[in-house]
Order: sequence, then structure tokens, then C-alpha cells
Amino acid sequence: MEQRPLGRTGADVSVVGLGTWQLGADWGDVDDDSAEHVLDAALDAGVTLLDTADVYGDGRSEERIRTALAPRGDRPFVATKAGRRADPFDAAQYTPENLRSWIDRSRRNLGVATLDLVQLHCPPPAVYSDERVYEVLDALVEEQAIAAYGVSVETVAEGMRALQRPGVQSLQVIVNIFRRKPLEELLPAAARAGVGVLARVPLASGLLTGKYDESTTFPADDHRNFNRNGEAFDVGETFAGVPFDIGVAAAREVAEIAGSGVPTAAFALRWVIDQPGVTAVIPGARNVTQVRGNVAAATLAPLSDSQLSDLERLYDERIRALVHDRW
Ligand SMILES: NC(=O)c1ccc[n+]([C@@H]2O[C@H](COP(=O)([O-])OP(=O)(O)OC[C@H]3O[C@@H](n4cnc5c(N)ncnc54)[C@H](OP(=O)(O)O)[C@@H]3O)[C@@H](O)[C@H]2O)c1
Repeated sequence: MEQRPLGRTGADVSVVGLGTWQLGADWGDVDDDSAEHVLDAALDAGVTLLDTADVYGDGRSEERIRTALAPRGDRPFVATKAGRRADPFDAAQYTPENLRSWIDRSRRNLGVATLDLVQLHCPPPAVYSDERVYEVLDALVEEQAIAAYGVSVETVAEGMRALQRPGVQSLQVIVNIFRRKPLEELLPAAARAGVGVLARVPLASGLLTGKYDESTTFPADDHRNFNRNGEAFDVGETFAGVPFDIGVAAAREVAEIAGSGVPTAAFALRWVIDQPGVTAVIPGARNVTQVRGNVAAATLAPLSDSQLSDLERLYDERIRALVHDRW
């Protein structure tokens, strides 16, 4: 699989990574065997980038990664996150002591002395200008507790602020066919700064696979049920903030633009992979079939000019007014 340098970290990562939120919680149940099969299938297919967080299943996602990697000879790049063990609205909890203890816990969960990458996990806005946060992260790099740090952001404005910090080595942000705003300013700025970009929620929580219809329902413990209106966290993380029925109808059109014989999921991922400034996509996958379907994006041909302009028109007509100015 194509590998790209992740900014200035010195690491190369596969253009299709694996998101592992679903291996922790919030996506209905994924048992230990399924989690192991998903991780093995991804690594066997050439995925060298895993994205996780200390709060996914309260550490379960990180622990499942450690378990799956233990018997294997290969070491993918594992990007984790810190900060959501605090109240996500309380910047005062981002103390050096808390950050150190959250990061030490991730080192134990993942069974490593040095974490490859720690991303601040969509922190409250005040954290982006808190010198103490960057000082402790720089110290942790110095101490080799972490090899690098970056940020995962909700908005373009937060991403632009984070890029001003010289120690920030990676940026994670929602980019997909229904979330185009980062293309305008943020991705070019990241490229200029030499900062790698991990594009999350690349399938708009599954909408961009084209497989749902207006009658699709999700389990009670799936955020696509309980966070439809942002009840638990930023609504932009659920279907990329697009109301479900509108997203289903628009995704039907995306499938038509992809054409018969081209799986919509791989088509949607290819679109993201080819955006200048994007290093890798990190789709979540709940089974081996989905892993393989996503990996196929790495070898799919780039979209044609007419497909690209059809997608832009679709966004302008159906989606832009709902999301563009919000994130
Ligand atoms: N704040 C943050 O930093 C943050 C927030 C959100 C996500 N993330 C990261 O980004 C990763 C990816 O985002 P995401 O998981 O939220 O959304 P996503 O990748 O856009 O969507 C994942 C869902 O798409 C469906 N799917 C995936 N591959 C498929 C395929 N080939 N064929 C058919 N269906 C497929 C599955 O839905 P079904 O379950 O319906 O089968 C899966 O649960 C997460 O795992 C996490 O690592 C980070």
C-alpha cells in the first residue's frame, strides 16, 4: 500500500489507516474476536496506521490494539489521543499533572515506553493558547514518553490556531465529500507548515458507503442513535453533522456518480486521499469485509474531472448550507 510521510515526524504511514473508536465503544457491540480480526485484517492488508484514544471504551480500544500486536512482528504507527478523560468543556483540567497521568495510562494500555503520537482530543478552545500544555508535551517528547504530539480539532479555526505552534506535528480533522471546508484554508496551511493530516470520519459515519436508507436504525449504544442532535458530544462527529435523511439522499447520488462496479465507500475514501495536504484517511471498520473494502481505496483510480465537479455541485446544492459555516 502507498505510504506517505506523516509531516515531520519521520514516520511513513499507509494512505488508508484504521480508526478504532468502534473497537472501544459507542458503535454498538464489537466483541474481542471481531476486534482482533479487524486489526489483523488491516495489518495483513498493509495498513501501518492505527488511530485510537484513551477514552474509546475507557481504554479498551488501546488494550485491544496491544493484544493484537503482541504476537505480530510488525509495528504499525499508533496514534492515540489524550484530554477527554477531563470534562471536555473545562480547560482548567488540562493541567501538566493530568496530561502526564493520562499519557502514562495510554503507555500502559498500549504496552509501550514511547507513544508514537499523542493528539490533544478536541480540547476546549482555551487549551490551544495554554503555554503549560505545550510545555508539558515538549517535556514528554524530551523524556521520550512520546515521540511526537499533534491535535485533533473540531473546527477549521482551531486547526489554524494549532498550526501556529511549532511543536505540533500532526492535525486530525473531519474531511469527507460532505465536509469540504478544510480544503480551502486548513489543508494548504498544514502542507506549508509540514504538518501531516489525518482525515477522520471519512465516510461520514457510514453515510458515504451508500448502504443506509431512510428506515435504517442504529442500536441504543451507538452514537448514530444517541448523538443525532449532539446530545453527548459535538454533533459534527455523527454523520459529519449532516441530518440523516438528507445525508442518505445525497449519498444515493454519490453512489450514482461513482458508477456501477465502483464501491461507494472506496470511491469516497479515494476522494479524500487525493485532496492535497491529506496524509491518510482513518475509516472505522467493524468487520473484515469493511477493512478490505476500505483498503481497496488505495489502489482505486483517481476520480475523473466530471465526477469531481458532480460532487462539488452535490455539496453546494444539498450540504453546504447545513455544515459549511459551522465547523
Ligand atoms: N474527536 C476525534 O478525534 C474523533 C472523532 C471521531 C472519529 N475519530 C477517529 O476517526 C475514525 C473514523 O471515523 P468514524 O469511525 O467515526 O467514521 P467513518 O470512518 O466515517 O465511518 C465508520 C462506519 O462506516 C461503515 N463502514 C466502514 N467501512 C465500510 C465499508 N467498507 N463498507 C460498508 N460500510 C463501512 C461502518 O458502519 P456500520 O457500523 O453501519 O457498519 C463503520 O462503523 C474513528 O474510528 C476514530 O479513530 C476521531
